[in-house]
Amino acid sequence: MVSTVAGALAIVGVWCVYKYFAALRRNILIARKSGIPYVVYPIHPLNLFWQFTNALWIPLIKKLPESWWEGRILVMGPDWSARSNQEYYDWVGSQTVIVLGPDQMTLYTEDAEVVSQITMRKEAFPKDVARYGLLTMFGQNVVSTEGAIWRMHRKVTASSFNEKNAAHTFAQALEQTKGLVDYLFGSADSSGTITNLDNGTIIWALNIIGYVGFGLRLIFPGQEPPEDPKLKKYGRLDAPPGYTMSFAASLGGLLERIIAILIFPAFILKRLPFEFAKQAWGAKENYKKYMDEFLVDKIEEVRQGENEQVGMDIMGELVRSVYGEKDKKSKAGSASNTLTDGEIISNAFIMTLAGHETTANVLHFALIFLAAYPNAQRRLQKDIDTLLGDTDPSTWDYESNINALLASYVGACMNETMRLLPPVTTIPKIVSPSSDQTLTIGGQRYVVPAGLSINITTPSSHRNPRYWPSQPSERTGKPTDLEDWLPERWYRNTGKGDSGGGNTDDEEDYGGFTGSDTSASLFRPVRGSYVPFSDGPRSCLGRRIAVVELAAALPAIFQKYSIELAADKWATDEEVAKMSLEERRQVYKKAQESCRNEIDNATAIITLKFHNGQYIPIRLVQRGKERFIGDLEL
Ligand code: HEM
Ligand SMILES: *[C@@H]1O[C@H](CO)[C@@H](O)[C@H](O)[C@H]1NC(C)=O
Ligand SMILES: *[C@@H]1O[C@H](CO)[C@@H](O)[C@H](O)[C@H]1NC(C)=O
Ligand SMILES: *[C@@H]1O[C@H](CO)[C@@H](O)[C@H](O)[C@H]1NC(C)=O
Ligand SMILES: *[C@@H]1O[C@H](CO)[C@@H](O)[C@H](O)[C@H]1NC(C)=O
Repeated sequence: MVSTVAGALAIVGVWCVYKYFAALRRNILIARKSGIPYVVYPIHPLNLFWQFTNALWIPLIKKLPESWWEGRILVMGPDWSARSNQEYYDWVGSQTVIVLGPDQMTLYTEDAEVVSQITMRKEAFPKDVARYGLLTMFGQNVVSTEGAIWRMHRKVTASSFNEKNAAHTFAQALEQTKGLVDYLFGSADSSGTITNLDNGTIIWALNIIGYVGFGLRLIFPGQEPPEDPKLKKYGRLDAPPGYTMSFAASLGGLLERIIAILIFPAFILKRLPFEFAKQAWGAKENYKKYMDEFLVDKIEEVRQGENEQVGMDIMGELVRSVYGEKDKKSKAGSASNTLTDGEIISNAFIMTLAGHETTANVLHFALIFLAAYPNAQRRLQKDIDTLLGDTDPSTWDYESNINALLASYVGACMNETMRLLPPVTTIPKIVSPSSDQTLTIGGQRYVVPAGLSINITTPSSHRNPRYWPSQPSERTGKPTDLEDWLPERWYRNTGKGDSGGGNTDDEEDYGGFTGSDTSASLFRPVRGSYVPFSDGPRSCLGRRIAVVELAAALPAIFQKYSIELAADKWATDEEVAKMSLEERRQVYKKAQESCRNEIDNATAIITLKFHNGQYIPIRLVQRGKERFIGDLEL
């Protein structure tokens, strides 16, 4: 009896071992056939079991002889994609590599030549929409679909993203930035230190996206609610009758708790006895209710003929496209190829998800970087003074200012922030499941297998020394300054680079802004080496909107104010007041060093930012009243 059980177990064991090695061998053969360098792992680094337990194994693995794991281990830790993986690509000796285990294989690339082929050839390298299935809780949308259905969603949604709306967004962003400054001053402690910059930029982005997505004028806590009767329900900060929270709170809560909402099925989330689950469920229920009512209101407006658009309002635009058209079409006898009510809500929601944290994070880190690099801050202020003098932001006009702003240090600071900390750190694609595809790398053709999953590692592409001109780092002494935040980089004239048309696999116009941000004299990265918004037909629809928001916020803050690191950890205000220039320089140096280390702690959970409540304390001061950065060369 015992021997029978032991025998059966032995057979199962042998069978498992056989299956394991057969699978590994199969993947090795596939990778070898492609000709692309590959690295073999006993388990794929993205395997869920590994992802959840790697903290256990990695210390053990590091006890083994170093030559066994050296290099290889670089992609096995958590969240490696948020960092530069230059070291890994260097270790492999290739900018494109297939990482394989018996369970799965992934092509990783930081090579601009490969990135541009993948992003431009939409049919050959589609988006891996299986990964986005969870984003369809309200219905299908422009992010969750592929092929002909995506095309329809993209066409309908893209019509809102035009220059007229960009101008509306610019004005709204200026107004919201004023709110942000007041909010930050209002939440400072008695010595002026601000610890919730992060919250401020999140509310700022939420309020703007409320405007962009729904035409609403949302406010900061403490601001006067608007008079507009239409905004009575949606614009207020408390819950209207029938709701348990304000619209802004439901949208904010939904976006903040999105992972819990996506992971747990509704009937479980509803019953979980935890605070986060209650908040998540409440936010989702309220939001859905707002959306249903909003839809009814908007349809009514359209039916009443009130379809005069007064500002940006993606959801209103979608309703108009369906209900404005439907009435016309049903007369003509066909109403196909339009969005369902659920899809209208879903698309409006996905815009807020895509455009909220992303933009907030860029503003947040740009402000922190500017505090940590005072020379850059002064240069930014000089450009803002030249362009706008002391004119009031309410008089700034989109059309006459936007290009100059984007070509100035304002544009350079944005670009450089998104280079080092791109909010979206990996762009997932796959090789078309229907057939193998070719990639041309360095003049040679490689065949990649159908269905292979692809991961563009954006932060690495953005620091790839083969495409980015660099100098030795003055700050760290490293051979390149590609890890440093240096907006000057965007003025380095290299003669290299292009922004050329590229070759998409079709000639259609998929909307979104495809033009260049600025003038030709600036540094133009080689196509594929700078992809914070991805590229090609499936690139970010909101790129222009995001860029315009940031181009409004930076001058609206730095025209009158400076931002300093708070340095309270190293010296009290009284001590600083008595210090010599050199002593203040030493204090600020410590704050800068600490700040730069803390920025390295940002992690990518949906977007790249501080999780775990970490923050960098700052002070917002009138220009001329700086304690440190006014007269120090730092
Ligand atoms: C700095 C801010 C932003 C960054 C860095 C960013 C980045 C990106 C990236 C990398 C993608 C491609 C994702 C992928 O292929 O997996 C994307 C797609 C998209 N983004 Fe953004 N985004 C930003 C702001 C916005 C804003 C403000 C909106 C809307 C108002 C928006 C709407 C979208 C949409 C709808 C898509 C999907 C397009 C499609 O699949 O056809 N984004 N974004
Ligand atoms: C900042 O936001 C977090 C998360 O929403 C919240 O818990 C915290 O109280 C906020 N802090 C301030 C100072 O508003
Ligand atoms: C920012 O990057 C974009 C995209 O590469 C480029 O067109 C633009 O010239 C850059 N802006 C500045 C100020 O360098
Ligand atoms: C891309 O790689 C990063 C780092 O390993 C990982 O976190 C992310 O889930 C990957 N995405 C895809 C689609 O493979
Ligand atoms: C970075 O994060 C780790 C883990 O959360 C934490 O222990 C460490 O103190 C953080 N470092 C800084 C500089 O905040």
